[in-house]
Amino acid sequence: MDKQTNLENAQARIAEASDQAVLADLERELLGKDGLLGQQLKEIPSLPPPERGPAGRAANELKAALTAGLLARAAELAEADLAADREGVGFDATLPAPPVERGSLHPITKVTRRLVQIFSSMGYHILDGPEVELDWYNFEALNIPADHPARDSQDTFYCGEEGRLVLRTHTSPVQVRAMERMTPPFRLVCPGKVFRHENTDATHEHTFHQMEGLVVGKDISVGHLVGTMKTLLRGIFGKEIDVRLRPGHFPFVEPGFELDARCVFCESGCRVCKGTRWIELLPCGLVHPKVLEAAGIDPSEWSGFAFGLGLSRLVMLSHGIDDVRHLLGGDLRFLEQFSC
Ligand code: DAH
Repeated sequence: MDKQTNLENAQARIAEASDQAVLADLERELLGKDGLLGQQLKEIPSLPPPERGPAGRAANELKAALTAGLLARAAELAEADLAADREGVGFDATLPAPPVERGSLHPITKVTRRLVQIFSSMGYHILDGPEVELDWYNFEALNIPADHPARDSQDTFYCGEEGRLVLRTHTSPVQVRAMERMTPPFRLVCPGKVFRHENTDATHEHTFHQMEGLVVGKDISVGHLVGTMKTLLRGIFGKEIDVRLRPGHFPFVEPGFELDARCVFCESGCRVCKGTRWIELLPCGLVHPKVLEAAGIDPSEWSGFAFGLGLSRLVMLSHGIDDVRHLLGGDLRFLEQFSC
């Protein structure tokens, strides 16, 4: 078979290559050591010297012709692949674009914003505090010394050396920081994340949200506390809701209370209020004189009330969520239910 026929055969096979893989095999076969080109090159040294030059040129031309043929076919195949892809996805530039998925605010964020609105309207400052806190602010200044049993109920993540730093177990340390900086009278709330070294289950999570409230002024009484809580409930539920106080013990308040609100979900007992018609809303009390003193405020001149609202609990109550782990689990199927 003469060289011209060889080249024509090779070109025909290139043109028939059905995909990139076949073409790659063909390239190896034609341009490789034992292929069409390799054969021609191998013959050259055995030719009489005058023929070697022309034979070398012929081999170069063959290589150029085959390479051009291979590249052209590769481009054709790529174009065909692209066309097939377009066909496959049914690409049609005239169709409307697919809908853009919208994100939404987390229910904790929503309830926080609502509360911030309500408390701002009552003249409260909205404060922030560090999540990594000094033991002093988280415990000592709140009248919880190192050997106090209250430390056991707030299982703590200690961090840093010497146990001086903790992940705050509640938002109450912001009370102390605020009292150090602000001159009474003042009112403030501080929403934020808190952390407990807990085994997690449906009602316990290592990270959850609270909102601390503090009012310091002249002759602040339990009446002010109750009135404020009723205003808060009116703001959230849009109607008058009865509250009651039960005694509660927290080292940083005296007297301390558990404040219950009338169940808003039923008239005669339901699953949420466990048939009692009362829902435990928040712990609160009058600021302990020792706490005022530790923050540099004279308890003979000033008094105050404080409360610690569980934001995670409030969201769970108002949406009937039965497992606290849903809140920070990051499962979109859960979160998408709150989009609007
Ligand atoms: N800090 C307390 C806790 O997380 C909650 C609390 C109770 C806050 C009574 C208060 C209060 O301000 O007065 O367990």
